[in-house]
Amino acid sequence: MISKDIKQAVQILTSEGIIGLPTETVYGLAGNIYSEKAIADIYRIKQRPRFNPLIVHLKAASDLDTVATDIPQKARDLAAAFWPGPLTLVLKKQAHIPDWISSGKSTVAVRVPNHPVALSLLQQIDFPLAAPSANPFGSISPTTSVHVEDYFADQIPMVLDGGACQKGIESTIVGFEGNEPIVYRLGSVSLEEMEAVCGTIQVRNHNEEAPEAPGMLAKHYSPSTKLILSDNLPSSLEAHHGTRIGVLSFSKVFDAPSIIRLEVLSAKADLAEAASHLYAAMHRLDHADIDLIIAEKLPEVGLGKSINDRLKRAATQ
Ligand code: TXA
Ligand code: MG
Repeated sequence: MISKDIKQAVQILTSEGIIGLPTETVYGLAGNIYSEKAIADIYRIKQRPRFNPLIVHLKAASDLDTVATDIPQKARDLAAAFWPGPLTLVLKKQAHIPDWISSGKSTVAVRVPNHPVALSLLQQIDFPLAAPSANPFGSISPTTSVHVEDYFADQIPMVLDGGACQKGIESTIVGFEGNEPIVYRLGSVSLEEMEAVCGTIQVRNHNEEAPEAPGMLAKHYSPSTKLILSDNLPSSLEAHHGTRIGVLSFSKVFDAPSIIRLEVLSAKADLAEAASHLYAAMHRLDHADIDLIIAEKLPEVGLGKSINDRLKRAATQ
């Protein structure tokens, strides 16, 4: 059931239930981090492997020291700059943080979401919320309450409605080696924005063997329709003519007889707007009667890098 009733969400979470939770990035599947039952339900419903840990959502940056310890100065600088907001920090965890949310790791991933409904909810409960994106493992993330309801209607009592997610792609995940930040997942905070705060940052988001963050898995964020990524849409259209094609374009309108559905991410070629429309456009294309999605590669700067990262993983067979 889709609802705006925060009081009811509080009641469900307090009695170890789980809900769909709006955030500024994507919707989450949320439960009390201290409830083994709620967390087991999240993993089961999402069909997520237990080795893949969850992000802890706090109501305020001032709560950070209650979940993490040995916090590097650059982590504090990044938190001060971007929280509440779409940045997740992977830090040494406090001993009382249950292994069932961190998959037994000595670290915990943590962020403060920048969404009025999520923050209001977090202020009314006395525990943090674990929340992975509210999609079955590997599929397209949800950016509206309807996306969550389409995936999980029968399995969760409530999707708390907070409108369409303003950012539209997941948080950026940053871990540390000593005081040095390392990006595990590109996301809604761009590399350039973070480097302005704490200097050069390494990106290490292609660890296939033992992924630090499974958003690193080569195949992820995938529609069920085959998707290819193109540097040159006209020539890709030409190469696949005769196929029923859905096009995901950055800013331009394309016209060809084989195009059954066209999604333009941002007519004014704005990367933030494109990010906010990405997953909804992929959901629509995946529901259209087509055989192939051709996605246009975006400029490899700022959020363009994060969007291209998602498109590359969606294109992996
Ligand atoms: O924007 C977001 O981050 C959304 C919203 C709901 O907050 N959440 C989200 O969660 O994208 P999820 O579970 O789909 O992705 C979390 C990523 C996973 O790739 C997981 O492996 C990684 O965070 N992660 C969690 N704890 C970690 C840890 N201790 N060390 C390394 N990676 C971790
Ligand atoms: Mg996810």
